[in-house]
Amino acid sequence: PPLDEILNLHDFEAVARAVLPDKAWAYYSSASDDEIAIRENRAAYQRVWFLPRILRDVTSVDWSTTILGQKSSLPIYISATALGKLGHPDGELNLTRAAAKHGIIQMIPTLASCSFDEIVDAAQPGQPLFLQLYVNRDREVTKKYVQHAEKRGVKALFITVDAPQLGRREKDMRMKFVDDGGTAKVQEGQAGVKKDQGIARAISSFIDPSLSWKDIPWFRSITNMPIILKGVASSQDAIMALEANVQGIVLSNHGGRQLDNSRSGLENLVDIVAALKTRGPWPNPNFSVFIDGGVRRASDVLKALALGASAVGVGRGFLYAFSAYGQAGVERAIEILRDEFEMNLRLLGARTLSDIGSDMVDASGLHTH
Ligand code: FNR
Repeated sequence: PPLDEILNLHDFEAVARAVLPDKAWAYYSSASDDEIAIRENRAAYQRVWFLPRILRDVTSVDWSTTILGQKSSLPIYISATALGKLGHPDGELNLTRAAAKHGIIQMIPTLASCSFDEIVDAAQPGQPLFLQLYVNRDREVTKKYVQHAEKRGVKALFITVDAPQLGRREKDMRMKFVDDGGTAKVQEGQAGVKKDQGIARAISSFIDPSLSWKDIPWFRSITNMPIILKGVASSQDAIMALEANVQGIVLSNHGGRQLDNSRSGLENLVDIVAALKTRGPWPNPNFSVFIDGGVRRASDVLKALALGASAVGVGRGFLYAFSAYGQAGVERAIEILRDEFEMNLRLLGARTLSDIGSDMVDASGLHTH
């Protein structure tokens, strides 16, 4: 269908499913094992209800924000999703260009199809970018990569901590790794890959499963970028992150692609915010809590913000948008979300995001299934 008939982010998914080659659809849409975590990522949002306010003069509403010190036109960033060229020949550049046009921030994946420098070169001067890091067994490779990114102006480092081994995405595994069409530009230093294990497994063998809390000071020593741990689920780990002096965490189960049956970020958010509140100021200007997984509507985002998230990551929503329509699809996705923010803020009785508080949601049903 023509782009102006796309009304919401779910529509992009339906088009992507229809147009993508089987292998790409399997890689993008798959989640691990029985795909329970991915299902609950969506379902959890449907257990939180709004308690809107009235008569608050919502003539002008503003949903812009700051994410790790960088301006963003939406309280959403584009989360890292590997192998963009499986979906569209321009791969991640679709995201970079659309993000530039609409003032949102893209997180560049370590396993992007386009090279890191291609992506940064496609960005506008001053356009903020974040980097997602898979830590290499060879730390010199990682050090060079991180320091190069900082030199090129990347504003924050998201270290993925929920993937010491890649989850079993069986839909993807069934497709086998025949030939990736030259799209997987993998980091140097990667071990040879076996070609019968699905795309995800094949490209990830360089990731270091020995990564531990002891490595955090080393990361601090090699970069001045804010460090965020991506893939936190437990309150204890959230507190350890705070005490390790990193600048934030992403409550995420990796879009359901890692440990299946791991609780959704939204459910964990409530407990983790409560735990963090016992350990210092809240909100904490030096420690941000992000969340991702299953976000497809501005209303989802507003629920997460009400429960204490600073901003929200979207993976598949944008991935499907560019798979179906290239850069124009991503732009349309951002415009749809923008219009949803405008309407939802008005109907909630909130003029800015700082008006969105826990009093505007009923999350009492969140942990009941
Ligand atoms: C991902 N995600 C991911 N995360 C990461 O840290 N490094 C990576 O290389 C990837 N790659 C990747 C590929 C694909 C195809 C998907 C769908 C996801 C996880 C991603 O950053 C994010 O956590 C989830 O996508 C959020 O869930 P939604 O928005 O896809 O529901």
